[in-house]
Amino acid sequence: MAHIPTATGRLPWRASVLTLFPEMFPGPLGVSLVGQALEVGLWSLALHQIRDFGLGRHRAVDDTPAGGGAGMVMRADVLAAAIDHARGTDADLPLLYMSPRGTPLTQARARALSTGPGVMILAGRFEGIDERLIEARGVEEVSIGDYVLSGGELAAMVLIDACVRLIPGVLGAEASLADESFEDGLLEYPQYTKPREWENRPTPEVLMSGDHKKIAAWRRAEAERLTRERRPDLLSED
Ligand code: ADE
Repeated sequence: MAHIPTATGRLPWRASVLTLFPEMFPGPLGVSLVGQALEVGLWSLALHQIRDFGLGRHRAVDDTPAGGGAGMVMRADVLAAAIDHARGTDADLPLLYMSPRGTPLTQARARALSTGPGVMILAGRFEGIDERLIEARGVEEVSIGDYVLSGGELAAMVLIDACVRLIPGVLGAEASLADESFEDGLLEYPQYTKPREWENRPTPEVLMSGDHKKIAAWRRAEAERLTRERRPDLLSED
């Protein structure tokens, strides 16, 4: 595939997804600013149907777990064929497998991935994938949180969304990124807009003062208070 520079002079950031349900995409990635960015070529989405590499008349992609137990496991040979095919055009992309067992996704990781060429994501179904595939193809497991989804597709969309919105030119105001949650290791301060008073609740006076130094100090203090109350773990990390 030829990659043509976009209006920003950059090559598009590439997302390549291997899935049994390509019809789930672009889904929420096709709307709003991220969807518009896809349309104008700031990023691209390639979908690979794992079933195309399945075995036999039924194009089987899974089998029973070695050692017994419930559920089915995706076969290493089938997944390897799909990955090797997808890598034909995107050999430079890091290969991620969405899994609750993986390294937790953070804003820092999303930012690092967004500054690279893109991502190739394996979205699994069933009980998991054969461990040998993970070892043999250098797959990195990534989790979006401590809960279990019915498949990796939604998790892949979360990761792609978190990265794409950081690509220069995707969001309108670059400045709004600097202030948001996690960018400085804190949760974001509270926001207010008109009307000035609503249901007997006034907007904090300091925000009406026009004193930008005072406003910045108030916002910082509020961000620290919220982080202390809700996410003390963020304050103890280096
Ligand atoms: N697949 C199923 N659950 C997941 C999770 N929490 N994170 C990433 N991928 C998943």
